[in-house]
Amino acid sequence: DTAERRRRQMASDPGSAPRDLLTLLLECEGLTPSEVEDNLITFIGAGHETTARALGWTLYLLSQAPGEREKVERELDALLPGLTDPLDWLEALPQTRAAFEEAMRLYPPAPSLNRMALEDDRVGDLDVPAGASVLVMPWLIHRHERLWERPGHFLPDRFLPENRAKLDRYQYLPFGVGPRVCIGASFSMQEGVIALASLMRHLRFDYVGTRAPHPVQKITVQPRGGLPMRISRRAD
Ligand code: HEM
Repeated sequence: DTAERRRRQMASDPGSAPRDLLTLLLECEGLTPSEVEDNLITFIGAGHETTARALGWTLYLLSQAPGEREKVERELDALLPGLTDPLDWLEALPQTRAAFEEAMRLYPPAPSLNRMALEDDRVGDLDVPAGASVLVMPWLIHRHERLWERPGHFLPDRFLPENRAKLDRYQYLPFGVGPRVCIGASFSMQEGVIALASLMRHLRFDYVGTRAPHPVQKITVQPRGGLPMRISRRAD
């Protein structure tokens, strides 16, 4: 409450509040305090854990594929010193972005899209009665042998621009598709690549678990027991 009051005071004194999400929401005409709160909770719930999981899996997969990790490190070493504005990083770092996207193929943070049929319907040769639960599973689609070459392998080059352009829109759905597509998709791609580049610029992450992490779905796809990592500083 006090924090909120302080923030509202700041917001009424232009220049004193940080230009962050909360300030922008407070400045929106017509939002009630409880709508501001709902938006913040959504941002944290839908937007924090998803991106965090994607980052964790990316670092794990890169640690298991030293050649791929080196490609990302080489890109960062060559390009980051000249890229002072992180807003440019998503477009300027295709190899880093590709690693992040390939990790979300194998471990989509939201592995199922769940719906209930409003009325009787037919999908392909399947009858869908009204009230039926319908699950569209990015987890399965992203690993389908008819859609992907060597689906079980972590091959980020699939997502380099010239290859990515060939993917079908319905083949890769980490953010869903259609009217309910993730509103945070562009934001999290940008956030993910900036975070990954910032971490991997100076640090190296090595998985030290004794066996492959076991993925479980608890809303997001998470490694049971976490991802124990040894973090070392990269030679400059
Ligand atoms: C890597 C990060 C993220 C992933 C993988 C992800 C994934 C998804 C997916 C798959 C959906 C569609 C769910 C469905 O169709 O049932 C969705 C919807 C949504 N996401 Fe994200 N999301 C991410 C980041 C974010 C961020 C940063 C925000 C915060 C702004 C956010 C807010 C939302 C909201 C509000 C919806 C519901 C949209 C609607 O129904 O109209 N997400 N997300």
